[in-house]
Amino acid sequence: MKISVIGAGYVGLTTAACLTQIGHEVFCSESDAGKLHKLQGGIMPLFEPHLEQIIQQARSAQRLTFGSTEEAVDRGQAIFICVGTPPLKNGDADLSAIEAVARMIAKRSCGYRLVIEKSTVPVQTGAQLRKHLSVHNTNRLEYDVASNPEFLREGSAVVDFLHPDRIVVGVDSGRAAGLLREIYGPVIRQDFPCPVHAKCPPHDPPRFLVTDTNSAELIKHASNSFLAMKISFINMVANLCEVVGADVTKVAEGMGLDPRIGNAFLKPGVGFGGFCFPKDLQAFIRIAEKSGCDFSLLREVEKINERRIEHFLEKVRKELWVVRGKKLAVWGLAFKPDTDDIRFAPSIALLKALVEEGALIRAYDPQGTAKAKEAVPDVTYCSNPYEAAEAAEAILIVTEWDEFRALDWRRLASLVERRLIVDGRNMFDAADVTAHGFQYLSIGRSAVLPAARASATAEASSPMVTKA
Ligand code: UDX
Repeated sequence: MKISVIGAGYVGLTTAACLTQIGHEVFCSESDAGKLHKLQGGIMPLFEPHLEQIIQQARSAQRLTFGSTEEAVDRGQAIFICVGTPPLKNGDADLSAIEAVARMIAKRSCGYRLVIEKSTVPVQTGAQLRKHLSVHNTNRLEYDVASNPEFLREGSAVVDFLHPDRIVVGVDSGRAAGLLREIYGPVIRQDFPCPVHAKCPPHDPPRFLVTDTNSAELIKHASNSFLAMKISFINMVANLCEVVGADVTKVAEGMGLDPRIGNAFLKPGVGFGGFCFPKDLQAFIRIAEKSGCDFSLLREVEKINERRIEHFLEKVRKELWVVRGKKLAVWGLAFKPDTDDIRFAPSIALLKALVEEGALIRAYDPQGTAKAKEAVPDVTYCSNPYEAAEAAEAILIVTEWDEFRALDWRRLASLVERRLIVDGRNMFDAADVTAHGFQYLSIGRSAVLPAARASATAEASSPMVTKA
């Protein structure tokens, strides 16, 4: 089927590439001329594992073309709208890009079009789309509108698209449902050449859930908000663990053994970031409150998350006594591993706060440095974690990149001014870190001194024993 994808961001580019991977011919548009030029020249505007390889293969097989929105509207019988819906100042989602596309489809298209909203949108956007298409319909356009929310995680978006646990489509006609079932057929059957696994392990076929558009739109916002709530819940429990001397890792493990809870998304840390959770949470709250519903539960989820950076900074200040003038290494800038995305990343808020306090920051991230430089220029950006650790009074871990798990500890110890790790993502087991002579602070767990210093400190702080 000839399919158009409008918007070449994380969602649009992944959708366009994966649709070619399952056999479709795709035209993908991008309104940003610079990004479009890069894409037409085979240059990736973002990092996402496996995406570049799929796009290169699809382009050389002439099954993926990049161009203008007008061309996309003219070419595809099915049109996936994957434009950005960033938050407005009041927290509402900015739907102006979607409205512009709807207007263009209505004015330019004739014949049948299946208009599919994949961008994350507030509930009842599908209804607005339908109304807009009819109001501006000049060429006797026949159309269906569908909601097909994406559940892609950055860093695993290709796998999430090709091996999903569910495909949700909100439709108002059997024709639309049938077309979407046809478009996703190879994914439903799990029958396509997998670009990720040479020998693809067997995957259960995803549930193809057909609902109305309002319900499909709500499934997305409710899912993301629930996941964000799990994270804020365990972060709240982590704070208590620090005070009462419990280990939040064990608490989360014990909770997760209950299949009704599950152990996913119970990792405490410096909070959730990215362009989805913070934005979707805000939009969901706004939708509910405008509908007269009390969503204060989610407002608390937001507040707990907003306090994570300050909580982490307090830990650093308490240990360093004075932050001003101190050299600090910050490992990790992207909002999560395996992506270069720094949008709403806890690291950015942390860098800004530390620079504000006069710390001298040396930062490193395997992918996110280029984008972080634009956001926080007055930081020294390094090309590896050891360079960032030079003369550091503390190493602050903000993103749990795998490469930080294979450290040359001896080299690290020779570089730092003080052997102190403050781990915002609980990457390590305390015993491993202290065995290398480093003091280790983390989230929801007790602070641990290196063995040698521990005994010295114990002696120093033990009550004076007067000789009988
Ligand atoms: C999320 C949803 O997972 C995905 O289904 C949806 O389509 C888009 O939003 P994404 O934002 O890419 O995906 O990343 P995700 O892996 O969900 O992590 C989001 C944030 O939560 C990251 O900052 C991560 O560090 C944080 N997180 C995640 C935690 O702090 N603890 C956890 O246990 C899991």
